[in-house]
Amino acid sequence: MSQRILLALIALLAAALLGLAFFWQPQPVGRSASSLPSGGDFTLRSANGPVSLQGFRGKVVLLYFGYTYCPDVCPTSLAAVGQALAGLASEELARVQTLFVSVDPDRDTVAQLKDYTAFFHPSIIGLTGSADEVAAVARLYGVFYAKQKASGTSGYTVDHTSVTYVIAPDGRLAANLPHGATPAAIAAAVRKLLSPSPSLKGTS
Ligand code: NI
Repeated sequence: MSQRILLALIALLAAALLGLAFFWQPQPVGRSASSLPSGGDFTLRSANGPVSLQGFRGKVVLLYFGYTYCPDVCPTSLAAVGQALAGLASEELARVQTLFVSVDPDRDTVAQLKDYTAFFHPSIIGLTGSADEVAAVARLYGVFYAKQKASGTSGYTVDHTSVTYVIAPDGRLAANLPHGATPAAIAAAVRKLLSPSPSLKGTS
């Protein structure tokens, strides 16, 4: 074999390997990898002290970003999550934690967040932090939010991404449910991640 052909073969092989490396992605449960942000651990404040995502390993975590003054988007989403939680068996509910992260840290206090989330389901934990802390968590999950001046008042609203993130018991972001997801769809996403557990055998 001539040296030129050998070099050409090596170049071809290298290109093929590069191509493979480029296209290969670990596949998460649910949505395709390309549509999911990285996700990741964080610690924020609740009415009962600091809360870390890492503390919920072994549970499915539903994560939503919003604010208590939200006129319609958050109430709609939290009502759907609340109904989904209400429809779970108690042993399923024990393995689910819902976190509501405020994108309005200037106004939402931990006490206010606690009252607000309890209205939708008593198990939901409301979280906030400094503006920088909240921004860092939002970045992990690809969440957008921006203050908008409300017309005719001194107040403001906050435009924000309305996605329910579903985090697997190992802490990996498994799926994102779009705004308008039904309670049944939310419950199904939770059960999909709970189903491998032997402790739930025979309860469905
Ligand atoms: Ni909202």
